[in-house]
Amino acid sequence: MAKKENLKVVGVLGCGAMGSGIAQVAATAGHEVIVFDANKESVKKAKENIHKFLNRAVEKNKLTRATADNAFANLKFARSLNAYKDCDIIIEAIVEDINIKQEVFQSLESIVGEHCILASNTSSLSIASIASACNNSSRVIGIHFFNPAVLLPLVEIIPSLLTSENTLKISKDLIDSWGKITVIAKDTPGFIVNRVARPFYGEAIKMYEEGFANIATIDWAMKELGGFKMGPFELMDFIGNDINYKVTETVFAQMFYDPRYKPSITQKRLYEAKLFGRKVGRGYYDYDVQSNNSEAIKDEEIGRGIFKRILYMLINEAADALFLNIANLEDLEVAMTKGVNYPKGLLNWADEIGIDKVLKGMEELQKEYGEDRYRPSPLLKRMARNNNTFASLGNKN
Ligand SMILES: NC(=O)c1ccc[n+]([C@@H]2O[C@H](COP(=O)([O-])OP(=O)(O)OC[C@H]3O[C@@H](n4cnc5c(N)ncnc54)[C@H](O)[C@@H]3O)[C@@H](O)[C@H]2O)c1
Repeated sequence: MAKKENLKVVGVLGCGAMGSGIAQVAATAGHEVIVFDANKESVKKAKENIHKFLNRAVEKNKLTRATADNAFANLKFARSLNAYKDCDIIIEAIVEDINIKQEVFQSLESIVGEHCILASNTSSLSIASIASACNNSSRVIGIHFFNPAVLLPLVEIIPSLLTSENTLKISKDLIDSWGKITVIAKDTPGFIVNRVARPFYGEAIKMYEEGFANIATIDWAMKELGGFKMGPFELMDFIGNDINYKVTETVFAQMFYDPRYKPSITQKRLYEAKLFGRKVGRGYYDYDVQSNNSEAIKDEEIGRGIFKRILYMLINEAADALFLNIANLEDLEVAMTKGVNYPKGLLNWADEIGIDKVLKGMEELQKEYGEDRYRPSPLLKRMARNNNTFASLGNKN
């Protein structure tokens, strides 16, 4: 049986955007890290990026020269999967394709020792389905970093139905020891962050489609009146509309087409037109020709309406995630503040506003639109009826 203190050799499979960051974090924490990627270009780029990043950290006095040099020396770039044979844990970060991931997990299992934990960094696939490819599925777990993995502190740990308690404990302890903040999420579509955050994008797009306000006004309202670091459209352009659209589509399909997660035609068209956002120079905003962009209409009443509608939808989603035991209350709050930098935990925010007020807002939206998208969470209804607060629930729920 594996023990955290015995986890010395870490394998990282795939060294693209996520794998290279994860490898750097593990190597900086002092592990010997074996990295393999099927594409030579990715390996070359990962080496360059890690080198650059570590050097910059030294220049900014965030790391000593010795720690940075050790971290780089800890990285071993391998030529085949066989190099993983002495690994104690492997974190997979290859292409988001269930067939390929299952194939790779099967191959890994035939190479590694019995104690080795096999983790996936998948954003949207079920851990149970990845684990089903292995003979010993109790060693398989989700370890979901956020992009960029070196800088963002949150990591979601996702045990599947088949993951052992030991695998969960060791994985969580290990990632904690790397200085990350871990939360435990149920193996359900979007885990915590990618589920609870959906209305931040979806409701913003819906209001824009309805002509309620232009893009710049919605972003202005969420930043200036809501205290969010970025507006929804700025953030979608930053994440990439290709990635954001795909996550929305996947969560919707995996939720058996629950209308609450319905993607929008507007974003689909952007995706089809390859207007992915910042990385291509144009998305919701034009980054090359500023004059093509709309100006925010800074009307406080309109702004408050925008902010309230998106916030109530987010709170409803967080309450429902608690209701369905996707995570405990504390982890839900930590995930949204540390993973996507929300100014406050959504359930604490609900207490501040008043749960009855949020519920009323959701009921009004549902009545107005007649859509299931706006159905209030049963938890909000119960809490309003009993005059409860989330603070008083604590982690008992
Ligand atoms: N990009 C994000 O924002 C983000 C955030 C969290 C999780 N994820 C998840 O992390 C994983 C990787 O995403 P990414 O953004 O780093 O992708 P990426 O395309 O940047 O990197 C994937 C790498 O895997 C390599 N690869 C593909 N198939 C392989 C195989 N069979 N064997 C070895 N190497 C292989 C590719 O050559 C590539 O270098 C995905 O599961 C994704 O859902 C991505």
